[in-house]
Amino acid sequence: MDVTARPNATSREQAIPAPVRRAEPIVWRNPHRRDAASVLAASAFSAADMRRAEARWRRFDPLLAQLFEGTQDGRIDSPLLPVPSDLAGSILGDAPGSVWVKADHDLPVTGCIKARGGVYEVLAYAEMLAGAAGFLRPGLSYAAFASGPFRDLFARHVVAVGSTGNLGFSVGVMARALGFQVEVHMSHDAKAWKKQRLRALGAHVVEHPGDYGLAVAAARAAFSNRTDAHFVDDENSVDLFLGYAAAALDLQRQLATAGIAVDAAHPLYVYLPCGVGGAPGGVAFGLTLLFGDAVRPVFVEPVASPCMLVQLASGLDRPVSVYEAGLDNRTAADGLAVASASMLVARTVGELVDAVVTVTDAELFRWLKALWNGAGMRLEPSAASGFAALGSFLAGVPPSEMAQASHVVWTTGGAHLPDQEFEAALARA
Ligand SMILES: Cc1ncc(COP(=O)(O)O)c(C=O)c1O
Repeated sequence: MDVTARPNATSREQAIPAPVRRAEPIVWRNPHRRDAASVLAASAFSAADMRRAEARWRRFDPLLAQLFEGTQDGRIDSPLLPVPSDLAGSILGDAPGSVWVKADHDLPVTGCIKARGGVYEVLAYAEMLAGAAGFLRPGLSYAAFASGPFRDLFARHVVAVGSTGNLGFSVGVMARALGFQVEVHMSHDAKAWKKQRLRALGAHVVEHPGDYGLAVAAARAAFSNRTDAHFVDDENSVDLFLGYAAAALDLQRQLATAGIAVDAAHPLYVYLPCGVGGAPGGVAFGLTLLFGDAVRPVFVEPVASPCMLVQLASGLDRPVSVYEAGLDNRTAADGLAVASASMLVARTVGELVDAVVTVTDAELFRWLKALWNGAGMRLEPSAASGFAALGSFLAGVPPSEMAQASHVVWTTGGAHLPDQEFEAALARA
């Protein structure tokens, strides 16, 4: 395990660290991190954008409550859970602080964090179409979006997306529930059960022999000139980003209810599995809007696919892929098997991220099993990565920085894993 100290922020580190190139786990403290106020002041997005996203979610509460079981009055949110004390003790050792789980592995509707962006973007598109068709009378309850005239309108439109699986499912579930046609372009590493699940929804699944980036590019090209279709662009979408950002308001409410202080004396470290960056980036941005420098986003990536790390470490304003760093982008964490980070996200949150931690597949499986046995949490490998990162991150940070800190590990998917898949993952531990 190599731990990089945070270099002097004025000497911008250009190089990708050697352990990253060797696919060894590393804790990379971000030398480009700057104070939240100046980053946010220069940002293309603001608190008003996050509040608008939150308002849109709330407009759709009546619809989501009607369409899906398990939402809390239409809210797609997960609980904030304390980690059982013996597990927390084994992670923290002598370090002070408390560990919590933001349990998106059990998120209503899709059982994964990508619903926060994917469902949101489908709702935004549906609202735009309904508005253009003159359907949005004052006082209308959005439960009407499930009614005949709305469905007839949506059935004449296609929603398309490129995905390793979970974004496709989130978009597919929501779009099919509204009557849209759905086309999902999937990478070679997408799991067979995720494709099957989409087909069962009535989605058209297009399989690509290449990686996630190629699947997204193919879908983007196929839908670029279609006026009857909307392409959910995992690499560039502002709606996805803001849908994820609104999750920060959910966490803020839960932290307050649990009596967890977040301020300069009580930093909040949030461990976020990172694929292309949209989900962790949106959440990190939203939390920074709410808590400023007191929140410390720690992104977590597989050793073979550290796309955000190589992007940020390079210091370059052009896409840098893990292949350029000599890595193969092969990991059991299918949701995180991404070679090039979203430039939208890298530019927006690159100076807000505290650290990127990389983890081996073996550690993912070890934690997947430990969390099942110790806490009854059913996670997919990607979603266990936050826990896999926590110990090595803590080991590399001075204890003084951790006094009075809280740690939130975002478990991002897994509750819908078929039994056979889950048992196979347990067996790999
Ligand atoms: C379970 C899980 N966790 C985390 C992520 C990372 O999200 P993003 O690709 O937006 O960084 C994904 C992406 O698909 C995922 O499926």
